[in-house]
Amino acid sequence: MQIVFTADELRKQLSALRNEGCTIGLVPTMGALHAGHASLVERSVCENGATVVSVFVNPTQFNDPKDLACYPRTPEADFALLERIGAALVFAPTVEEMYPEPDTRTFSYPPTDSVMEGALRPGHFNGVCQIVSKLFGLVRPDRAYFGEKDYQQIAVVSRMTTDLGFDIDIRPCPIVRAASGLALSSRNALLSETEKETASYIYRTLKESLAWSAALSVTETARKVIDTLNAVDGLEVEYFQIADGRTLEPVSAWSQSDSVVGCITVYCGARPVRLIDNIRYK
Ligand code: PAF
Repeated sequence: MQIVFTADELRKQLSALRNEGCTIGLVPTMGALHAGHASLVERSVCENGATVVSVFVNPTQFNDPKDLACYPRTPEADFALLERIGAALVFAPTVEEMYPEPDTRTFSYPPTDSVMEGALRPGHFNGVCQIVSKLFGLVRPDRAYFGEKDYQQIAVVSRMTTDLGFDIDIRPCPIVRAASGLALSSRNALLSETEKETASYIYRTLKESLAWSAALSVTETARKVIDTLNAVDGLEVEYFQIADGRTLEPVSAWSQSDSVVGCITVYCGARPVRLIDNIRYK
């Protein structure tokens, strides 16, 4: 496995891989890798001749400087894991390498990027599109792998990929969960063991809501999820939105779309840590 830190080195290594006839899979990450990331890399390794993993905490997608400062960084452990699971190339650039000049581009894909995370974290998806489009332009992968925990991110990146005309197959990958049901996230490293137990109520409640949805309306189901979780000591729901699975536009009736997803953000614990998760109703 090669580890490169500059775009020039990346291009050199990629052209060697392409000369060997390899198809390229890209797994963009912000590091602090866990089994969820490993599942993306493992899938890419199966489906491509060579897998490139980017490890870069992208400052332009953080709207809260404290969140950026606290974001866990574990490069040595990340590189060791990636070597074990068969990545061919790791790209770990500095901020100056990725943004020699401030990125002034703006991306706008309403309603997909303007609801939920888009409304609560202004500029977040613009930053995601800035970095992902740069990575797509540099790596030119055949396939790119994203975890479904960030459901809305996949919808926004898919719109951007079509909009910018990238010939890249976006491959969504299932959420990986701890035995307790808690969706794996780099942010879980900021939770104590007790807080992780508390956080496991999120998925437990989302799963229960599948049964509730058979008898209750969209509004009633959403209310019950929010009330159930807010009743748990140490949890506070920021939003729970039941939405169209493609556009992310809120739905008011189950029959409104053939694809319906419930997306949730919950604050957990003393710090508190902001956790996201989702469930497919259909
Ligand atoms: O999902 C993430 O970790 C990030 O948003 C991504 C896609 C790597 C862009 O920085």
